[in-house]
Amino acid sequence: MWSAFFFYLCQKKNHMELPFAEPYKIKMVENIYRSTRAEREKWLKAAKYNLFNLRSEQVYIDLLTDSGTGAMSDKQWSEMMIGDESYAGATSYFKMKHAIERITGFPYFLPAHQGRAAENVLFSAMVKAGDIVPGNSHFDTTKGHIEYRKARAIDCTIAEAYDTTVSHPFKGNVDLEKLETVLKTFPREHVPMIILTITCNTSGGQPVSMQNIKDVKKLADKYGIPLVFDSARFAENAYFIKVRENGYADKTIKEIVREMFSFADAMTMSSKKDAIVNMGGFSAMRSKELFQNASVFNIMFEGYITYGGMSGRDMNALAQGLDEATEFEYLDARVKQVEYLGKKCIDYGIPVQQPIGGHAVFVDARRFVPQLPKEEFIAQTVALELYLEGGIRSVEIGAILADRDPITRENRYPELELVRLAIPRRTYTNNHMDYVATALKNIFDTRHEAKHGFRITYEAPIMRHFTVELEKIK
Ligand code: F0G
Repeated sequence: MWSAFFFYLCQKKNHMELPFAEPYKIKMVENIYRSTRAEREKWLKAAKYNLFNLRSEQVYIDLLTDSGTGAMSDKQWSEMMIGDESYAGATSYFKMKHAIERITGFPYFLPAHQGRAAENVLFSAMVKAGDIVPGNSHFDTTKGHIEYRKARAIDCTIAEAYDTTVSHPFKGNVDLEKLETVLKTFPREHVPMIILTITCNTSGGQPVSMQNIKDVKKLADKYGIPLVFDSARFAENAYFIKVRENGYADKTIKEIVREMFSFADAMTMSSKKDAIVNMGGFSAMRSKELFQNASVFNIMFEGYITYGGMSGRDMNALAQGLDEATEFEYLDARVKQVEYLGKKCIDYGIPVQQPIGGHAVFVDARRFVPQLPKEEFIAQTVALELYLEGGIRSVEIGAILADRDPITRENRYPELELVRLAIPRRTYTNNHMDYVATALKNIFDTRHEAKHGFRITYEAPIMRHFTVELEKIK
């Protein structure tokens, strides 16, 4: 009797909590080449110091983006095999329609080949010259589509978002006072929509709380303005609501997602993120009239309304992906891997946006190399150094991306100079994350040696970051 009790106590003492692990295993692998520093120096010079110009074989770990770079599941690949490629009324269209209805609650939708195409379609129906579009740190294509129409995006994100040392659970939130000031200042007919980006990519993959969503909707209703979600990472946003916001711990991700979208009048979606497909997108809306107006532009720019730039097999994979991406176990693995890399960086003393975002770790380049002047493109300099050190491709979210003021044509220097390490979904292991963190640590340890950054030798009139060419300042 006593020995049994003793045995029970010992067992209890040795009983360890099972560690976190991915809810999937790997069925197919893709080899990647680990280059030498000498090779990388040569390639980077030939790429005019623009990481977009590198060939993917020249990259060992590609953290340029989490967009379209994820690994599809076996179920998604099976769906690819049974896609219906009919021009009109394909079964794949209806599969996608039902998934969108079930997950977001929107009765109308239009397929598009990716997120910016959905923006093009929806904004063609809603935004005109002279308009004002307030929101939380509009993504660059969103801002591009607004400015292209000679309208203006006004950023109303809370101030905490721009201080990487401040921890705030919902740094994607809208500052309601700022928003109301905008709504009071401009006449209703010049504010076609408010855009809420969930999660907010530009401020660091930071979520928006349900409370903030509700408050923004209340203001939108007060002024009679539609609320549109830029929903690329809506599932990651729902995950953060579940784990950080009071009252949501016991709700499923799908319940939270439905509640989030219940406050939106329309949405645009880049399915390359939270639908885990390589290509695809859509816009969705509650109003039949808006659907009919937008349909005209969908047909002109994307394709007929039952395929809109997507093949049937891709619509099938997207429908399946929406379901998988809104499961807690998947999201827990996803967000925790990003956090794993972020925590390693913090342990090494590397300045990063905190808390760690949903899809990426954002290195604060100004705090990394404070000796560099902003005119020499601080974040780009750090990103290039990281590539030289480890063959890791990241992306600059700083002055190059911020581009020039559309009116004055002067460079805009944003409050944050960030290097984004975006983690593709279900693609890399934590060994890769360790490698990235070590490479970052190495360049952080030698940061005092950086004397100069870069100057631009070529830039396109709009969205210059994709094609910009640079030279080293000696
Ligand atoms: N909205 C957000 C918040 C995004 O992050 C993106 C794309 C888009 C819209 C446009 O979607 O690429 O399918 O046309 N972001 C990618 C990135 C490119 O790397 O963050 P898209």
